[in-house]
Order: sequence, then C-alpha cells, then structure tokens
Amino acid sequence: MTLFAARMKDVKPSATFKYDAAAKKPGVINLTIGRPGFDTPGVIKEAAKRALDEGKVHYTASKGIPELREAIAAKLERENNIKGIDAEKIVVSGGGKQILYCILTALAGNGDVVAIPNPSWVSYEAQIRLAGAEVAWLKLNPEDGFIPGDEFLTALEYSKAKLLILNSPANPTGAVIPERIIKEIMNICEDRGIYVISDEVYEKLIYEGRHYSPASEYENVITVNAFSKTYSMTGWRLGYCACTDRAVIEKIEIVHQQSLSCCTSFAQYGALASFTKEAEDAMVRMREELRTRRDYVMKRLSELDVICKKPGGAFYVFPYFRDVDDYELADRLLRRGVAVIPGSAFGTQGRGCIRISYGGADIRELSQAFDRITGD
Ligand SMILES: Cc1ncc(COP(=O)(O)O)c(C=O)c1O
Repeated sequence: MTLFAARMKDVKPSATFKYDAAAKKPGVINLTIGRPGFDTPGVIKEAAKRALDEGKVHYTASKGIPELREAIAAKLERENNIKGIDAEKIVVSGGGKQILYCILTALAGNGDVVAIPNPSWVSYEAQIRLAGAEVAWLKLNPEDGFIPGDEFLTALEYSKAKLLILNSPANPTGAVIPERIIKEIMNICEDRGIYVISDEVYEKLIYEGRHYSPASEYENVITVNAFSKTYSMTGWRLGYCACTDRAVIEKIEIVHQQSLSCCTSFAQYGALASFTKEAEDAMVRMREELRTRRDYVMKRLSELDVICKKPGGAFYVFPYFRDVDDYELADRLLRRGVAVIPGSAFGTQGRGCIRISYGGADIRELSQAFDRITGD
C-alpha cells in the first residue's frame, strides 16, 4: 500500500517555481518570473492599510466582501460587456490559480475530459489531473504565432471534452486570440455542449489587438480573472470567477468555502481601490514599460535563428529554436547566467521553445541577458 493518493501519480511540481528557484543564484538574470516586477499602486496599499487600522481582520463572506463583488460585477459589464452578473454570481478567491482549482474540482472528475491548448500554463494540466480528470491537448504552432487554427478547432470538435480552458492573452506564448477565432471556438463549444473557462488574467496587458470576453455573447462561460498581474499584486493572492448561472457559482463556492473559507479580509479592501483612476493610471504606465521591453526583446530575437511571431500581450515571448532540446538549452543558458523556462514544461508543442519573461527584468537586464544568449 502506498501512502500517496493515486491522483498524485502524474502530477508534477510547478516547473516555473522550480526554475525560478534555480535562477536565484547571484549574477543570474532571471527571465523565468511570471509576474510584473513593479510595486502595487499606492492607492491599493493605502486602502489595505486603512482596513487593517479599522480592524477589518476577521473572516468575510466566503464569496468575498459584497462591495468588492459589486465593483467586479460593474467592471465586467463596463469593460467586458458581460451582462447578467451581480454580486451573487461572483466568487472572490485566493488568486486566479485557486479559483481555477475550485472550478475544476467542482466541474471535472473521474472519466471527464478537459481540453487545454498545447502549450499552455503549467497549472492547467496539474489541476485537471488533481481533479481526477483527463487532459485533451489542442495543438498550437509557432508558425501561426500560437493562435488557434484548423488543427486546434478540429481536435476540439472531435474531443470528448466537457470543459475547455481558453486563455487570451496567453501564458506562455503572449498570443492574443482574435475575437473572430474565439467565436469559432465558442460556436463549436455551444454545438458540442462544452462549458468554457475563460482565463482572462492578462486581459489588460495587450499591446496590439483587442481583448474579447466570450461571456459577452455566450452563456456557457465561466470568466476567471485576478488582480495579480494587472495591478502587480501577485503576493496578495486575489482573483475571482463570474458566471451567469447561479447553480454553477454555488458549486464552486462550496469548494472555496470548504478549502479556504474566504480570502484575506484587508487584502480585499485593498483590491477595492484597484477600481480607481490612480490604480488604472499606474497600470497604464506599467503596460507602456512592458511594451517597450517586448519591442526590445523582439529586436534582439531577430538576431537569432528562431521562429517567433510578435506576441500581442502578457509579458512572455516563446521563441522556437527548431530541433533543439529545450531542457538542454535552458541549462546551457543558465550556465551563461540567464534563467528561462524550457518550453516542454508547457506541453509537447513547447518542444524546442523557451519561455522568456520580461515582466521582472528592465531593459538594461534584458540587454545583458541577450548579450549572454548571443555571445559564443
Ligand atoms: C494563465 C494564468 N492563469 C492564472 C494564473 C494565476 O494567477 P494568480 O493565481 O497569481 O492570480 C497565472 C499565473 O501565472 C497564469 O499565467
């Protein structure tokens, strides 16, 4: 008899945390980090401090403080054109990751199939397996800039999936999926009765193109978002999901209630201040800096023999080095003092790629990193 649950068999530790830890050696330029290296806007920090001073230190409603849920519902209507959401149709969670875990636990189990893009964020596969369900991988290709094409659509159509996780802008590729293609995907999902989890945590970090939320026109969608990337709040652990179907939200809330009770009280009051002009202005300044870094990285990548279409969002680029072993390449680069994540960690279609994050490195560090990458 083994001590460990059978579901742990195929679940790996997070590759991004592993390589981030390896990158902490002195002198190494860390391009592994999945976060913006900026401070949280002052207005948000002040609101959290005030809440602490006012003694807001107790459990809150499990779904989150009503003021925050109301503000999120208003934001979803104003910015994402998602109607029919009110405070009862939102669960505030310990980051985007925790709400995805609650959703998958509530909706997927033994024998169920969940479709995800290949490559995609490392935690999708792990969380699907933890839920006891199976993964259907949908192929993306570097030549298409990792935007879903016919192969992806056909695989989705013939899959046995009951759920699909969509992610635009995407980790690890930075790809922004055009509205037209999201609609093609959604039409297949509607026809086949597939429920969609739309992970929109990078929605505001877009440099070209426009964000489209499928829940603005389709009913079979759970929208996932977080304060983490948009307002540089990864350590605050705050995210949320919204769905027009109360029954779906109730089941997700049960998992959240029974695992976390509620999110940190004063952090929620801080997040409420993210809906202010000051916080939005700070986000726009951060986005402009990220755009400059993205353009710089693309310029330096053009010196190399790689396939890499300019990604429209997030803070990642995912160049394809063709027949290269990406684990060996990442090790070689680490020996040269540059830490990146091997593309295979994100799925088989990441073979020969590396994920470069420019979220936590400024232009000077990026310049040094590329000098090391290109130097003999
Ligand atoms: C695509 C995607 N979704 C969700 C998350 C979760 O973000 P958090 O739990 O920090 O809010 C991440 C973090 O890296 C991500 O890249």
